[in-house]
Amino acid sequence: MGHKYRSNDSLAELISDDFRLLQVMSRFGIALGFGDKTVNEVCRENGVDTDTFLAVCNFISQGLKPSFEEYLSLHVEGLLTYLRNSHTFFLDFELPAIRRKFVNAVDCSTQNEIGFLILKFFDDYVAEIKRHQEYEAEHFFQYVDGLMHGRRPADVCLQHFEDDHTHQNDDQMIARKLSDLKNIIIRYSPSSANKEELNEALLNLFEFEKDMESHTLLEDTVFIPVVSMLESQVDVNDEESEPENKKSDKDPLSQREKEIIMGVVKGQTNKEIADSLFIATHTVLTHRRNIARKLDIHTPAGLVIYAIVNGIVKVDEIRDLPIN
Ligand SMILES: [Fe+2]
Ligand SMILES: [Fe+2]
Repeated sequence: MGHKYRSNDSLAELISDDFRLLQVMSRFGIALGFGDKTVNEVCRENGVDTDTFLAVCNFISQGLKPSFEEYLSLHVEGLLTYLRNSHTFFLDFELPAIRRKFVNAVDCSTQNEIGFLILKFFDDYVAEIKRHQEYEAEHFFQYVDGLMHGRRPADVCLQHFEDDHTHQNDDQMIARKLSDLKNIIIRYSPSSANKEELNEALLNLFEFEKDMESHTLLEDTVFIPVVSMLESQVDVNDEESEPENKKSDKDPLSQREKEIIMGVVKGQTNKEIADSLFIATHTVLTHRRNIARKLDIHTPAGLVIYAIVNGIVKVDEIRDLPIN
């Protein structure tokens, strides 16, 4: 552990090194039984992009964000498949399996108040997860599907989704529900419960929690920036749009705006950018709003990629991708 996985590594060794990669592999649609083949060989045989697969492995297992060169080579399609399969796995397989274990371990009929309550909390929690994932599938994944086929409706943008996903209390509410559920089980489980079965259900719930956390993190720090880059390459399909709304081929940014972007890219706060340029913080904010409007790029990660592609900064000047 602690090293980066590469395309010439044997996939079997990767899995032995970190068993969580079994899930990653299966969500990319790769089945077991690949002998001594390397990651690259197995990926090629399964029609999976090797770089994208490795980026997810290194992120899930080692917490490593892709480098900039890697970022630019990630396949949106592969990531989308991975996320969709994760949703299916959570809702159709993992959560129902945990529920079955609870029902087997504890009497959940109305006569047993605690058992009944545990199951009710559990079902509430699952309903919340389901709502979140359905929203994602309908509003976000479909939009990304459209982008991949050159469709970009004028009335939607990634920003809508990103705000919902990152800043809404959704994740917090889901996490609170789960923590209530775990607490009730830990503190108040009836003594009549089948211990082994109940422990295992709880253990699975903890594992599920970790799995969900890294899923959300992958969406926020890998998927959204990659989609944001794709979005900036697709023109809005709006027949009614005025010609002056169209992005011009000429460099639309002023020198000051480029300086602001450099600050953002270096991970500086608005205040730090303001201080280094001897301007007020609210002026920085105005510039940032103008930049977002002109470029139609709304995230720092998107700006970083824009800055690299347009030669405002060099790849090796940056180490980390700012995410907020
Ligand atoms: Fe998701
Ligand atoms: Fe999500």
